[in-house]
Amino acid sequence: MNTPSPAHAEPPRPGEQPPPGGADPRPVTVIGLGLMGSALASAFLRAGHPTTVWNRSPQKADPLVASGAVRAASVADAVAAAPLVVVCVTRHDAVVDVLDAGRTALPGRVLVNLTSGSSREARALADRVAALGAHCLDGAILTTPDAIGAPDATVLYGGPDAVFRAHAPTLAALGGGVTFLGADPGIPSLYEVALLDIMWTSLTGVLHAMALVGTEGIAATEFAPFAAMLYSGVGSFVPRYARQIADGAYPADDSTLHTHLAGIRHLTEESGDRAVEARLPLYIQGLMERAVARGQGGDSFARLVEQFAPPAQGAASAATSAPRSASA
Ligand SMILES: NC(=O)c1ccc[n+]([C@@H]2O[C@H](COP(=O)([O-])OP(=O)(O)OC[C@H]3O[C@@H](n4cnc5c(N)ncnc54)[C@H](OP(=O)(O)O)[C@@H]3O)[C@@H](O)[C@H]2O)c1
Repeated sequence: MNTPSPAHAEPPRPGEQPPPGGADPRPVTVIGLGLMGSALASAFLRAGHPTTVWNRSPQKADPLVASGAVRAASVADAVAAAPLVVVCVTRHDAVVDVLDAGRTALPGRVLVNLTSGSSREARALADRVAALGAHCLDGAILTTPDAIGAPDATVLYGGPDAVFRAHAPTLAALGGGVTFLGADPGIPSLYEVALLDIMWTSLTGVLHAMALVGTEGIAATEFAPFAAMLYSGVGSFVPRYARQIADGAYPADDSTLHTHLAGIRHLTEESGDRAVEARLPLYIQGLMERAVARGQGGDSFARLVEQFAPPAQGAASAATSAPRSASA
């Protein structure tokens, strides 16, 4: 098997941001020029990287070519054009299609997969790429295309440490939040779905609340400032509850589950009175009732975590180690 030896790069010193593109911007290839892939290619171009692009529907490359990108005639040509090949297509099965089309040129390259998927898919892809004689970094993009390249745009990576270090200066073109989560290529995908879990479940609560006040003729826009105020305040509970989950101890220093249960019963009653679909608050009420029945009514809200999955072994020690960013 022909495996590449990543180019040597000095790791950034603590607190030092890798310069976008480094002193001598390296060539990069971007495959997949949908909304996100086009934003990635634009960011590489802005940072001065010679950028080769390929898309299944070739016309999507036109604006990038007008900005200085080189259009590859085939996937294999695109892969051959740069040591770092970024793939951002719809799903993992499309990544496999791309790999099959470019496999002859892949040995010796680093494939950076920024296509969303599950941790199982990411691990299988890394194995597949290794079998083809290349290295794989798997990434999760935590921003929208318009923010790619911004100082706070965060992309998480997993894969071989030396490969990440070698290419972090190039990847810094995509945003200031270049974050390495370790050697397991599946972990960024796990973070991505877990973060989307927060987005979807909490935003469903926002929609439910807007439907509830809407039954009184209160416009969502009128209610929105209060919703936004509460939404940002709820974020302050995250580190406190994380600490409690890591410690396996749930002191109710804000509010007990008894108090929460009384409150959510008002919500389900109000929803019922107004014929508003109430399965979402009823589900949460059920979690609280179960906890109280187990004698946990004096604990904090965070105690409910145990109803989703048993506490992970070693969670307490893991909670004390933060992911490494390229700048830390
Ligand atoms: N957009 C976001 O805000 C966002 C944020 C985070 C992560 N992501 C992730 O980024 C990835 C791309 O998202 P997007 O918004 O760019 O989607 P998109 O605009 O729908 O673009 C999809 C891309 O995949 C290509 N494609 C699909 N099937 C293919 C195949 N079999 N072979 C080759 N190319 C194929 C499409 O080519 P054609 O042009 O020929 O159809 C197109 O370039 C997704 O995994 C998404 O979850 C997106």
